[in-house]
Amino acid sequence: MRFLDALNTSQQVQEMQQLTHRMLGVAPGQRILDAGCGVGDVTRELATLVGPKGHVVGVDLSEAMLAEARARTEGTGLSVEYLKADVHALDFPSESFDRCRSSRVFIYLDDPREALSELLRLTRPGGAVVLFEPEFDTWALDGPDRGVVRALIHFWTDQLRNPWIGRQLPRLFHSLGVKQVAMRPVVGTWVPRMLETFGMYPVLEKAIAEKVVTREQVNDWLQFLKEGEKNDSFYGCMAGMVVRGIKPGP
Ligand SMILES: C[S@@+](CC[C@H](N)C(=O)[O-])C[C@H]1O[C@@H](n2cnc3c(N)ncnc32)[C@H](O)[C@@H]1O
Repeated sequence: MRFLDALNTSQQVQEMQQLTHRMLGVAPGQRILDAGCGVGDVTRELATLVGPKGHVVGVDLSEAMLAEARARTEGTGLSVEYLKADVHALDFPSESFDRCRSSRVFIYLDDPREALSELLRLTRPGGAVVLFEPEFDTWALDGPDRGVVRALIHFWTDQLRNPWIGRQLPRLFHSLGVKQVAMRPVVGTWVPRMLETFGMYPVLEKAIAEKVVTREQVNDWLQFLKEGEKNDSFYGCMAGMVVRGIKPGP
Protein backbone atom coordinates (compact mmCIF):
# COMPACT_ATOMS: atom_id res chain seq x y z
CA MET A 1 0.00 0.00 0.00
CA ARG A 2 2.90 2.35 0.78
CA PHE A 3 4.31 1.55 -2.66
CA LEU A 4 0.96 2.30 -4.33
CA ASP A 5 0.44 5.53 -2.39
CA ALA A 6 3.94 6.77 -3.20
CA LEU A 7 3.44 6.13 -6.90
CA ASN A 8 -0.21 7.07 -7.24
CA THR A 9 0.32 10.54 -5.81
CA SER A 10 3.10 11.30 -8.32
CA GLN A 11 2.15 13.62 -11.15
CA GLN A 12 3.47 11.18 -13.76
CA VAL A 13 1.36 8.24 -12.65
CA GLN A 14 -1.68 10.51 -12.46
CA GLU A 15 -1.02 11.64 -16.04
CA MET A 16 -0.66 8.01 -17.17
CA GLN A 17 -3.93 7.09 -15.49
CA GLN A 18 -5.64 10.06 -17.20
CA LEU A 19 -4.38 8.67 -20.51
CA THR A 20 -5.90 5.26 -19.68
CA HIS A 21 -9.24 7.02 -18.97
CA ARG A 22 -9.09 8.80 -22.35
CA MET A 23 -8.18 5.62 -24.23
CA LEU A 24 -10.97 3.80 -22.42
CA GLY A 25 -13.46 6.47 -23.56
CA VAL A 26 -15.04 6.88 -20.13
CA ALA A 27 -18.44 8.63 -20.14
CA PRO A 28 -21.26 9.22 -17.65
CA GLY A 29 -23.63 6.31 -17.15
CA GLN A 30 -21.16 3.53 -18.05
CA ARG A 31 -20.54 0.29 -16.15
CA ILE A 32 -16.78 -0.21 -15.76
CA LEU A 33 -14.67 -3.02 -14.30
CA ASP A 34 -11.30 -2.21 -12.68
CA ALA A 35 -9.44 -5.55 -12.53
CA GLY A 36 -6.83 -5.73 -9.74
CA CYS A 37 -8.01 -2.43 -8.23
CA GLY A 38 -5.60 -2.35 -5.25
CA VAL A 39 -6.61 0.43 -2.84
CA GLY A 40 -9.10 1.69 -5.41
CA ASP A 41 -7.65 5.12 -6.20
CA VAL A 42 -8.30 4.73 -9.93
CA THR A 43 -11.60 2.93 -9.30
CA ARG A 44 -12.92 5.97 -7.44
CA GLU A 45 -11.68 8.35 -10.13
CA LEU A 46 -13.65 6.31 -12.66
CA ALA A 47 -16.73 6.33 -10.41
CA THR A 48 -16.56 10.14 -10.35
CA LEU A 49 -16.40 10.18 -14.16
CA VAL A 50 -19.32 7.76 -14.73
CA GLY A 51 -21.44 9.65 -12.16
CA PRO A 52 -24.47 8.42 -10.19
CA LYS A 53 -26.08 6.75 -13.22
CA GLY A 54 -22.99 4.69 -13.92
CA HIS A 55 -21.33 2.03 -11.78
CA VAL A 56 -17.75 0.87 -11.22
CA VAL A 57 -16.72 -2.51 -9.82
CA GLY A 58 -13.19 -3.01 -8.46
CA VAL A 59 -11.99 -6.58 -8.01
CA ASP A 60 -8.83 -7.71 -6.26
CA LEU A 61 -7.42 -10.89 -4.73
CA SER A 62 -6.19 -9.17 -1.60
CA GLU A 63 -8.61 -8.70 1.33
CA ALA A 64 -6.27 -6.08 2.81
CA MET A 65 -6.36 -3.99 -0.39
CA LEU A 66 -10.16 -4.32 -0.59
CA ALA A 67 -10.63 -3.28 3.06
CA GLU A 68 -8.51 -0.17 2.45
CA ALA A 69 -10.38 0.59 -0.79
CA ARG A 70 -13.73 0.37 1.06
CA ALA A 71 -12.45 2.55 3.93
CA ARG A 72 -11.27 5.21 1.45
CA THR A 73 -14.68 5.18 -0.27
CA GLU A 74 -16.79 5.60 2.87
CA GLY A 75 -18.90 8.72 2.82
CA THR A 76 -18.07 9.62 -0.80
CA GLY A 77 -21.49 8.57 -2.14
CA LEU A 78 -19.79 7.19 -5.25
CA SER A 79 -21.44 4.41 -7.25
CA VAL A 80 -18.65 1.89 -6.68
CA GLU A 81 -18.23 -1.54 -5.08
CA TYR A 82 -15.24 -3.77 -4.35
CA LEU A 83 -15.30 -7.55 -4.62
CA LYS A 84 -12.79 -10.28 -3.94
CA ALA A 85 -12.05 -12.13 -7.18
CA ASP A 86 -9.28 -13.55 -9.33
CA VAL A 87 -9.01 -11.81 -12.69
CA HIS A 88 -8.42 -15.19 -14.36
CA ALA A 89 -12.02 -16.27 -13.61
CA LEU A 90 -14.62 -13.60 -12.85
CA ASP A 91 -18.12 -14.45 -11.77
CA PHE A 92 -20.02 -11.87 -13.88
CA PRO A 93 -22.32 -12.50 -16.86
CA SER A 94 -20.76 -12.07 -20.31
CA GLU A 95 -20.95 -8.55 -21.80
CA SER A 96 -22.01 -7.03 -18.47
CA PHE A 97 -19.57 -4.07 -18.66
CA ASP A 98 -19.22 -1.19 -21.13
CA ARG A 99 -15.50 -0.98 -20.41
CA CYS A 100 -12.88 -3.10 -18.63
CA ARG A 101 -9.49 -1.83 -17.49
CA SER A 102 -6.51 -2.92 -15.45
CA SER A 103 -3.27 -1.22 -14.46
CA ARG A 104 -0.04 -2.76 -13.15
CA VAL A 105 -1.59 -6.20 -12.60
CA PHE A 106 -0.81 -8.36 -15.66
CA ILE A 107 2.90 -8.20 -14.86
CA TYR A 108 2.15 -10.45 -11.84
CA LEU A 109 -0.38 -12.88 -13.33
CA ASP A 110 0.03 -16.65 -13.83
CA ASP A 111 -1.79 -16.59 -17.16
CA PRO A 112 -2.20 -13.15 -18.81
CA ARG A 113 -3.94 -14.68 -21.86
CA GLU A 114 -6.65 -16.27 -19.73
CA ALA A 115 -7.16 -13.00 -17.81
CA LEU A 116 -7.39 -10.90 -20.98
CA SER A 117 -9.80 -13.37 -22.49
CA GLU A 118 -11.94 -13.01 -19.34
CA LEU A 119 -11.95 -9.18 -19.60
CA LEU A 120 -12.96 -9.45 -23.27
CA ARG A 121 -15.78 -11.85 -22.37
CA LEU A 122 -17.14 -9.33 -19.85
CA THR A 123 -16.98 -6.35 -22.23
CA ARG A 124 -19.95 -5.56 -24.48
CA PRO A 125 -19.29 -5.70 -28.25
CA GLY A 126 -17.82 -2.37 -29.38
CA GLY A 127 -16.55 -1.65 -25.85
CA ALA A 128 -12.90 -1.05 -24.96
CA VAL A 129 -10.45 -2.99 -22.81
CA VAL A 130 -7.47 -0.89 -21.67
CA LEU A 131 -4.40 -2.17 -19.85
CA PHE A 132 -1.43 -0.24 -18.50
CA GLU A 133 1.77 -2.14 -17.67
CA PRO A 134 5.29 -0.95 -16.80
CA GLU A 135 8.27 -2.16 -18.83
CA PHE A 136 11.10 -2.51 -16.33
CA ASP A 137 13.58 -3.59 -19.00
CA THR A 138 13.38 -0.10 -20.52
CA TRP A 139 14.98 1.54 -17.47
CA ALA A 140 17.54 4.14 -18.55
CA LEU A 141 19.61 4.75 -15.44
CA ASP A 142 22.95 6.49 -15.12
CA GLY A 143 25.86 4.95 -13.21
CA PRO A 144 29.64 4.79 -13.07
CA ASP A 145 29.75 1.34 -14.74
CA ARG A 146 27.33 0.52 -17.59
CA GLY A 147 27.88 -3.24 -17.21
CA VAL A 148 26.83 -3.15 -13.56
CA VAL A 149 23.73 -1.03 -14.20
CA ARG A 150 22.67 -3.26 -17.12
CA ALA A 151 23.23 -6.42 -15.06
CA LEU A 152 21.10 -5.03 -12.23
CA ILE A 153 18.28 -3.91 -14.54
CA HIS A 154 18.15 -7.32 -16.25
CA PHE A 155 18.32 -9.14 -12.92
CA TRP A 156 15.47 -7.04 -11.46
CA THR A 157 13.37 -7.45 -14.61
CA ASP A 158 13.81 -11.22 -14.59
CA GLN A 159 12.43 -11.42 -11.02
CA LEU A 160 9.00 -10.47 -12.37
CA ARG A 161 6.60 -13.11 -13.69
CA ASN A 162 5.72 -11.29 -16.93
CA PRO A 163 8.32 -8.54 -17.31
CA TRP A 164 7.65 -8.03 -21.05
CA ILE A 165 3.87 -8.11 -20.86
CA GLY A 166 3.49 -4.44 -21.92
CA ARG A 167 5.11 -5.02 -25.32
CA GLN A 168 3.35 -8.39 -25.68
CA LEU A 169 -0.19 -7.13 -25.12
CA PRO A 170 -0.89 -6.12 -28.76
CA ARG A 171 0.02 -9.67 -29.86
CA LEU A 172 -2.16 -11.11 -27.09
CA PHE A 173 -5.16 -8.99 -28.18
CA HIS A 174 -4.63 -10.12 -31.79
CA SER A 175 -4.43 -13.77 -30.77
CA LEU A 176 -7.83 -13.37 -29.08
CA GLY A 177 -9.45 -12.00 -32.23
CA VAL A 178 -9.18 -8.27 -31.42
CA LYS A 179 -7.85 -6.47 -34.48
CA GLN A 180 -8.48 -2.83 -33.46
CA VAL A 181 -5.51 -2.39 -31.12
CA ALA A 182 -3.88 0.91 -30.15
CA MET A 183 -0.68 1.19 -28.15
CA ARG A 184 0.77 4.28 -26.47
CA PRO A 185 4.15 4.11 -24.71
CA VAL A 186 4.48 6.53 -21.82
CA VAL A 187 7.72 7.49 -20.09
CA GLY A 188 8.13 8.32 -16.42
CA THR A 189 11.11 9.91 -14.67
CA TRP A 190 12.93 7.77 -12.10
CA VAL A 191 14.67 9.26 -9.07
CA PRO A 192 17.00 7.37 -6.69
CA ARG A 193 14.55 7.33 -3.76
CA MET A 194 12.41 5.00 -5.90
CA LEU A 195 14.90 2.24 -5.01
CA GLU A 196 12.98 2.06 -1.78
CA THR A 197 9.53 2.70 -3.28
CA PHE A 198 10.04 -0.18 -5.72
CA GLY A 199 11.40 -2.44 -2.93
CA MET A 200 14.73 -2.77 -4.74
CA TYR A 201 17.15 -3.04 -1.82
CA PRO A 202 16.39 -6.75 -1.20
CA VAL A 203 16.79 -7.35 -4.95
CA LEU A 204 20.24 -5.75 -4.84
CA GLU A 205 21.13 -8.11 -1.98
CA LYS A 206 19.85 -11.08 -3.99
CA ALA A 207 21.93 -9.99 -7.01
CA ILE A 208 25.02 -9.90 -4.79
CA ALA A 209 24.19 -13.32 -3.27
CA GLU A 210 23.77 -14.80 -6.76
CA LYS A 211 27.08 -13.24 -7.83
CA VAL A 212 25.53 -11.14 -10.58
CA VAL A 213 27.44 -8.14 -9.19
CA THR A 214 29.77 -7.60 -6.23
CA ARG A 215 28.89 -5.68 -3.08
CA GLU A 216 31.57 -3.16 -3.97
CA GLN A 217 30.00 -2.53 -7.39
CA VAL A 218 26.57 -2.06 -5.80
CA ASN A 219 28.00 0.30 -3.17
CA ASP A 220 29.72 2.35 -5.89
CA TRP A 221 26.41 2.69 -7.71
CA LEU A 222 24.48 3.57 -4.54
CA GLN A 223 27.08 6.23 -3.72
CA PHE A 224 26.73 7.60 -7.27
CA LEU A 225 22.94 7.74 -6.84
CA LYS A 226 23.23 9.42 -3.46
CA GLU A 227 25.45 12.17 -4.83
CA GLY A 228 23.25 12.56 -7.89
CA GLU A 229 20.18 12.96 -5.71
CA LYS A 230 21.96 15.41 -3.40
CA ASN A 231 23.05 17.78 -6.17
CA ASP A 232 20.11 17.04 -8.44
CA SER A 233 22.29 15.72 -11.27
CA PHE A 234 20.93 12.17 -11.65
CA TYR A 235 18.62 11.27 -14.51
CA GLY A 236 16.66 8.09 -15.05
CA CYS A 237 13.43 7.04 -16.72
CA MET A 238 11.28 4.02 -17.52
CA ALA A 239 8.56 3.35 -20.10
CA GLY A 240 5.15 1.82 -19.61
CA MET A 241 2.64 0.69 -22.23
CA VAL A 242 -1.01 1.66 -22.43
CA VAL A 243 -2.76 -0.75 -24.78
CA ARG A 244 -6.39 -0.64 -25.91
CA GLY A 245 -8.38 -3.27 -27.76
CA ILE A 246 -11.94 -2.80 -29.02
CA LYS A 247 -14.10 -5.89 -28.68
CA PRO A 248 -15.39 -6.85 -32.14
CA GLY A 249 -19.10 -6.43 -32.67
CA PRO A 250 -21.76 -3.88 -33.57
C1 LIG B 1 0.56 -2.86 -8.21
S1 LIG B 1 -1.09 -3.15 -7.64
C2 LIG B 1 -2.01 -2.11 -8.79
C3 LIG B 1 -3.28 -1.59 -8.21
C4 LIG B 1 -4.10 -0.65 -9.12
N1 LIG B 1 -4.53 -1.33 -10.32
C5 LIG B 1 -3.32 0.62 -9.49
O1 LIG B 1 -2.91 0.79 -10.64
O2 LIG B 1 -3.13 1.46 -8.58
C6 LIG B 1 -1.47 -4.80 -8.18
C7 LIG B 1 -2.78 -5.34 -7.62
O3 LIG B 1 -3.14 -6.52 -8.35
C8 LIG B 1 -3.73 -7.44 -7.46
N2 LIG B 1 -3.69 -8.78 -8.06
C9 LIG B 1 -2.61 -9.51 -8.36
N3 LIG B 1 -2.96 -10.69 -8.92
C10 LIG B 1 -4.32 -10.68 -9.00
C11 LIG B 1 -5.30 -11.61 -9.48
N4 LIG B 1 -4.95 -12.79 -10.00
N5 LIG B 1 -6.60 -11.28 -9.40
C12 LIG B 1 -6.98 -10.07 -8.84
N6 LIG B 1 -6.09 -9.16 -8.37
C13 LIG B 1 -4.78 -9.46 -8.45
C14 LIG B 1 -2.89 -7.27 -6.19
O4 LIG B 1 -3.56 -7.77 -5.05
C15 LIG B 1 -2.68 -5.75 -6.16
O5 LIG B 1 -3.70 -5.10 -5.44
